[in-house]
Amino acid sequence: MSRVPVMGDDLPATMRAMLGDEFELLPWDDGLGSAALARVEGLITYGHPRVDGPLLERAPNVRVVSNHGVGVDHIDVAACAARNVAVGNTPGVLDAATADMTFALLLAIARNVVVGDAYARSDRFTHYDPSHMIGREVTGSTLGIIGLGRIGRQVARRARGFDMRVLYYGRHRQPAAEQTLGVDYAPLDDLLARSDFVTLNCPLTEATRNLIGRDQLRMMKPTAFLINMARGGVVDHAALVDALTAGTIAGAALDVTEPEPLPRNHPLLALSNVVIAPHLGSASDRTRRRMQEMTVENLRAGLRGEPLPYQVRPAP
Ligand code: 8YV
Repeated sequence: MSRVPVMGDDLPATMRAMLGDEFELLPWDDGLGSAALARVEGLITYGHPRVDGPLLERAPNVRVVSNHGVGVDHIDVAACAARNVAVGNTPGVLDAATADMTFALLLAIARNVVVGDAYARSDRFTHYDPSHMIGREVTGSTLGIIGLGRIGRQVARRARGFDMRVLYYGRHRQPAAEQTLGVDYAPLDDLLARSDFVTLNCPLTEATRNLIGRDQLRMMKPTAFLINMARGGVVDHAALVDALTAGTIAGAALDVTEPEPLPRNHPLLALSNVVIAPHLGSASDRTRRRMQEMTVENLRAGLRGEPLPYQVRPAP
């Protein structure tokens, strides 16, 4: 039996085992025009390789793009739809893990976890000094969530455990969530001005690219922290460097950057009021296992010409 050619790189052993031996796994190749690309019938985007019209032009046999992850900003969904290529993703299963990581980074930047770790390991830690590294109290503070989607709502639930007042901003008001989660809608400027912590949990779209720029950072309190769990492109990095250097805001914790990774000489990497994680939002054992399963389910359905169990529709 001939194996179905599928392009997908760096897949973990668990996912390869789920795929079995019915697929011929080809390395990801955006070196356009390769002969292999012309044979490929399915794409697995593991990490964020770009899928766009020019790539699909050179891969005319592709019937499905199966994305390991929920965000599809690296996939031109409209270009896929125009060629009858189904796009699948993994919604829902990563909400809890990503909300957990939002709080991990929030607490880390507020309470000096990372600089404290480096200090405690160093020769500089000669005696305990109770007046050293006083952080910001998280309990009872105000949290501003930008993007009250599935992940944002999980963040709001966790915030209740910290007795936080929660504001949110998004495209639409959500009266039901306001009731059940005890959150209040605020226009963006108002949320920025009132929050002690601002967390980004929105997708990267044309509407959210550079949503947080110079003007928005200036609206934040000088004591406030920015947490980016969304995509690097939601924040203007040059403006963020200036705000962190000038003390316009107190600090930032970034799970995502643009580009990813940042060049090793990027000024953000030299700032002690920044915590950076290498895109770990959904990186927990149970969540990643389920993401892999859903990615394989979508791939198989698409190759059979069936509706995907978790299908991404193009924006209206
Ligand atoms: C994944 C993510 O790590 O779901 C997303 O949008 O960014 C992450 O959960 C990423 O997609 C890796 O494939």
